[in-house]
Amino acid sequence: MEATKEYEIIEAESKSIYSKINSCGLIGVNGYAVEIEVDLSSGLPNFILVGLPDTAINESRERVRAAIKSSSLEFPNKKIVINLAPADTKKAGPTYDLPIAIGVLACIEPSVINKQNLENLYIVGELGLSGKVRSINGTLSFVIHAKNNKASGIIIPKENSSEASLIEGINIYPVSNLNETIYTINNIKDIVPLKKTVYSNTQNKFTADFNDVKGQTLAKRAFEISASGQHHILMIGPPGSGKSMLAQRLNTILPPLGYEEKIETTQIYSAAGRLTKEKGLISLRPFRSPHHNISTAGLIGGGPIPQPGEISLAHKGILFLDEFTEFPKHVLDSLRQVVEIKEVTISRSRRSCTFPCDFTLIAACNPCPCGYFGDNIKKCKCNLNIIKKYQAKISGPIMDRIDLQVEVKRLSESEIISNKTSECSEKIKERVIKAKDLQIKRYKDLSISSNSHLSSKEIKHFCTIDKKGELILREAIKTFSLTARSFDRILKVSRTIADLENSDIIKDEHILEAIQFRLNTFNNI
Ligand SMILES: Nc1ncnc2c1ncn2[C@@H]1O[C@H](COP(=O)(O)OP(=O)(O)OP(=O)(O)O)[C@@H](O)[C@H]1O
Ligand SMILES: [Mg+2]
Ligand SMILES: [Zn+2]
Repeated sequence: MEATKEYEIIEAESKSIYSKINSCGLIGVNGYAVEIEVDLSSGLPNFILVGLPDTAINESRERVRAAIKSSSLEFPNKKIVINLAPADTKKAGPTYDLPIAIGVLACIEPSVINKQNLENLYIVGELGLSGKVRSINGTLSFVIHAKNNKASGIIIPKENSSEASLIEGINIYPVSNLNETIYTINNIKDIVPLKKTVYSNTQNKFTADFNDVKGQTLAKRAFEISASGQHHILMIGPPGSGKSMLAQRLNTILPPLGYEEKIETTQIYSAAGRLTKEKGLISLRPFRSPHHNISTAGLIGGGPIPQPGEISLAHKGILFLDEFTEFPKHVLDSLRQVVEIKEVTISRSRRSCTFPCDFTLIAACNPCPCGYFGDNIKKCKCNLNIIKKYQAKISGPIMDRIDLQVEVKRLSESEIISNKTSECSEKIKERVIKAKDLQIKRYKDLSISSNSHLSSKEIKHFCTIDKKGELILREAIKTFSLTARSFDRILKVSRTIADLENSDIIKDEHILEAIQFRLNTFNNI
């Protein structure tokens, strides 16, 4: 009799209550499942977090405690152990505050939460001390993850509604504080989920236009080819010839972003915390122009919890590197790989993540330190060795990867005073879109949509050259000692030029035009 009593006491003391909440974490721009397990047991009051949390999550204990108390709820005076599973991945950020709070509240008896409704429901959100639910980074990716995992729904911070509303096929419940979250969970069947926002496809109006740029016919042609086939450009020319002006107008002739592209781009901005409450969708191709004193991590991406760099923020848009030669050599060299593989992997001991970076590089620089080498009016003051050193800042391998290299010369007197209006962006864009459509159709079974993305194997398949063109190419390899990579790149540009003419076959004139864009002034010293 005595022994049974003792046993009962031990059992009562060790009785613990368990709850599990589905939440999400971010690796790069992709959401992954994080389960928040809460174990509440009698014992010395304590609040322990395990499962590789970072400092922001560790501080979550204080926010959760304060938020529960401020919401007129009782914080359990017991031993609370929270496990963030999987335990081998480093968790970052304050995303888990809200699910942790709900997990703790679900363990209180009698519970204020209808536990049944938690099944297959995802919860993400940061908590303020007052119980307010704050916005978080990565909501769009979390919603996509929950949808792909056939969740019954996802609770998100109200401030992130705009980006979340891009996705349909999942019930999204925006909340603004802890009490509203509890109400939403308990009455989930009666709550109307967020409606999908229908974004109109109306085109953005630009204030700048290509017809603002006088002369520069060759450079404009390079931009048209670049826009059509997504080829990188390097402009070399004296100060004031219009290089920055041209770069700032590329967006006006690019095909509009498709729905999938908008989602991909918005996911990056969401992960980087660069969306605002009002602007929840990136609908215009990004234009990024970082200063030349940017660090490698700033350009490529980095940080203890990897963040996307400028190359990823330029995804599906333009990365304009003005004063190209002023960027430190190691920063430029870090671009070598990413301009080809269109994604960047950042490795850390506990996690490595990949960000997409499918951008068009537009680089601009002067031909020498004083800016006037090769100019027909102003005399260059630099000595030859200095010019060589200056130009060597752009290494051969980087140069090799830039399809269109174009000299942007100073305008002539008559060009400056001329009132002749040149072609407007809208007209150029019409041709670009036609050429782009041909590529989309041609590559519909591949995972690419632009000529510049063709692999060597695909080039052989899709770039059929006529006899005359072949002879010209052979000659060019000999005369200009072209590398295999240059050869491939000439073919890709030729493919785009042929597409602009709606020609299936690549003809000699297409190849000749492509070759002229690789013979830059840098080789002419
Ligand atoms: N082709 C042009 N047509 C019309 N205006 C031009 C042209 N080129 C230059 N300009 C005028 O000169 C200004 C400077 O041009 P821009 O900044 O594009 O030169 P840049 O080549 O980038 O020079 P830098 O090498 O100093 O950066 C422009 O804002 C514009 O007013
Ligand atoms: Mg400039
Ligand atoms: Zn000079």
